[in-house]
Amino acid sequence: MRRIHCLNNISPLGTALLTEGYALSDTLEGADGALVRSASLHDVELPESLLAIARAGAGVNNIPLERCAEAGIVVFNTPGANANAVKELVICALLLGSRDIAGGIAWCRDNAGDENIAKAAEKAKKAFSGREIAGKKLGVIGLGAIGAEVANAAVGLGMDVYGYDPYVSVGAAWRISSAVHHVTNLDDVLRVCDYLTIHVPATDSTKGMIDARACSLMKDGAVFLNFSRDSLVDDEAMAAALSSGKVAVYVTDFANPAVMRMEHAVVLPHLGASTAEAEDNCAVMAVRELMDYLDNGTIANS
Ligand code: MLT
Repeated sequence: MRRIHCLNNISPLGTALLTEGYALSDTLEGADGALVRSASLHDVELPESLLAIARAGAGVNNIPLERCAEAGIVVFNTPGANANAVKELVICALLLGSRDIAGGIAWCRDNAGDENIAKAAEKAKKAFSGREIAGKKLGVIGLGAIGAEVANAAVGLGMDVYGYDPYVSVGAAWRISSAVHHVTNLDDVLRVCDYLTIHVPATDSTKGMIDARACSLMKDGAVFLNFSRDSLVDDEAMAAALSSGKVAVYVTDFANPAVMRMEHAVVLPHLGASTAEAEDNCAVMAVRELMDYLDNGTIANS
């Protein structure tokens, strides 16, 4: 009997796929495979029985990859399984960075008791005027599963899209709209775009990739979106860019104390992949990968 331990709540659509010969285990100790969503395994002891870990999500920064490699534990992620969910939120973020939706909602809440609210709203709305995204330049940094979807959707919304990814795969390249301009130099993307969105994995080499220098290259009043990982953006540099107005709006999916109280930061609590559909897709893909490896030794997406 193969034993699988879930470190987080994994969609039952995934665990229901476990065939005869598999059982869910309450502990990691003695498990052959582990399913994990956002829980960190960095401080967790990995038992000798463990052969594979499948992360129901794209990023694997919650998994101690070096320790796994040393112990011969295969690590899977689920690339693309939540890409649509993240793409939809990024498109929402483009609009949050362009129209003062957050300010408008807060104003309505604060003034809900006003007897003449409709009249007051007509006056107040001038303060929440925004701009349109159609015709504006969007830089997509990283053209993996999520970046490619964002780029294509932005083309559909009439944006002029610039994609940067020195490692774009042939498979991914085919999925990207021919309207996307491929740029080989990140600095050029930073310089010309009105909006920038980053979709690269968190690694040692991407840590603080958006630093003071990167911010200084941006157009005055650029809008920057981060729905990848908090570590990609240097907090202090972004806070300074927001204070000076260099970055007009920073929309981030990470509750970072350095920026979250700032007037022009729109901060979400890592909701990118938080949809029922994405939870299901990731769980199904993760369970299939685990079983395929444990049953047949097949390694895909590791
Ligand atoms: C991912 O890595 O798949 C996304 O950031 C979503 C998540 O971790 O919740």
